[in-house]
Amino acid sequence: MSQLSALITSLQNPLLELEMDSQSHALEQIEALISEGSLHHSPQWAGHMSPAIDSPSVLGQLLAGAHNGNLLSPELYPQLVTIEKQLISWFCELFGQNEGHFTHGSSYANLEALWQARDNASNPSKIVYGSEATHYSIIKACQILGLEFQAIATDEQGKIDIGELSQACQHQAPIAIVATAGTTSSGAVDPLTACIKIAKEFNSWCHVDAAWGGALLLLPEQTALQGIEQADSVCFDPHKALGQPRPCSIILYQQPLPLLAGIDADYLKQPPQKTLAGSYGGELFLPLWCSLLKDKDVLRSQLTYRLEQARLFHQTLRKQTNWQTFYSPSGIVCFRSNSILDLTLLEKQGVLSRSKIKGEMVWRVVFASSKTQAEDVITALEPYF
Ligand SMILES: Cc1ncc(COP(=O)(O)O)c(C=O)c1O
Repeated sequence: MSQLSALITSLQNPLLELEMDSQSHALEQIEALISEGSLHHSPQWAGHMSPAIDSPSVLGQLLAGAHNGNLLSPELYPQLVTIEKQLISWFCELFGQNEGHFTHGSSYANLEALWQARDNASNPSKIVYGSEATHYSIIKACQILGLEFQAIATDEQGKIDIGELSQACQHQAPIAIVATAGTTSSGAVDPLTACIKIAKEFNSWCHVDAAWGGALLLLPEQTALQGIEQADSVCFDPHKALGQPRPCSIILYQQPLPLLAGIDADYLKQPPQKTLAGSYGGELFLPLWCSLLKDKDVLRSQLTYRLEQARLFHQTLRKQTNWQTFYSPSGIVCFRSNSILDLTLLEKQGVLSRSKIKGEMVWRVVFASSKTQAEDVITALEPYF
């Protein structure tokens, strides 16, 4: 404890040791950074999936920085190993999966999952199917792995068209199907049970990208993610949907991961598993652990609040405008108008962003932060009603 307090006290030293001019310049820059980051704490922030972070997690960031252990040598850090195991087993239970680990973001998780899919294949296909709203990290992953991504059309709500997926599989069986639980563009959740059933029929891997929508599993009454426990792999980002600082992402699997073949890392006590991450430590999960210390209901009630604000926002738009709206269960609301609606100014202020549904531009409002309030977003939009 005393070492950590000494470290925290020493944080101000680099500033105190500077010449006066450099000190005030550094302070100005620090203030500008604080002001820039406070965007996420504004009640009108709904531009992207970066939440206002849950304050206890800052303690976790400090702890992780001070600890700096590397889990490539787990035998040296039994405390860190225990905490990671506790968290992973909680997530495994939540998602109905059997093992997994933390990683740096869902771009990495998606690549790792498709890597396992490719090397586990019992069919010779190189095709990966996912909806046209699939996150671009899946397409990047396919390019890296020598696979071919083919986009399947979505319905009016942005969910994958199951009829089209089924037809495509009959035409050419895939090596994997990627279902998205909470698309980046509109928050839509693909019908998971149907996607998984089709994947099984064709002996294909089914990966669920639940980077954004996975948090819904915290709500006992939710039904949107039914069937997720049948997926071969699932990823989820607490750094998007649970108020956590980046990087905090998890990848979970149904089957145990193999060891990495053909690697001789004789300086390590344990041979590495077939995962993408190299060095990592508490920075990936100690902030989340601190957030959960008090009780898990805090994150659940923040999520309930966000979803309620999204519902309220949607209801108000429907009552007060004739705009076409797109509501999702995961906290993203999109809209467009038949007349010209130039919201570039609000886009610059972080109130909303642009996106596409079925190839057509829509405005997107993301309820990622538990500080975002429907009423304040409506106030920003009212001049355009
Ligand atoms: C559905 C989905 N999957 C994957 C990603 C990639 O996540 P990251 O930016 O953490 O790598 C995103 C990012 O927005 C996403 O929305």
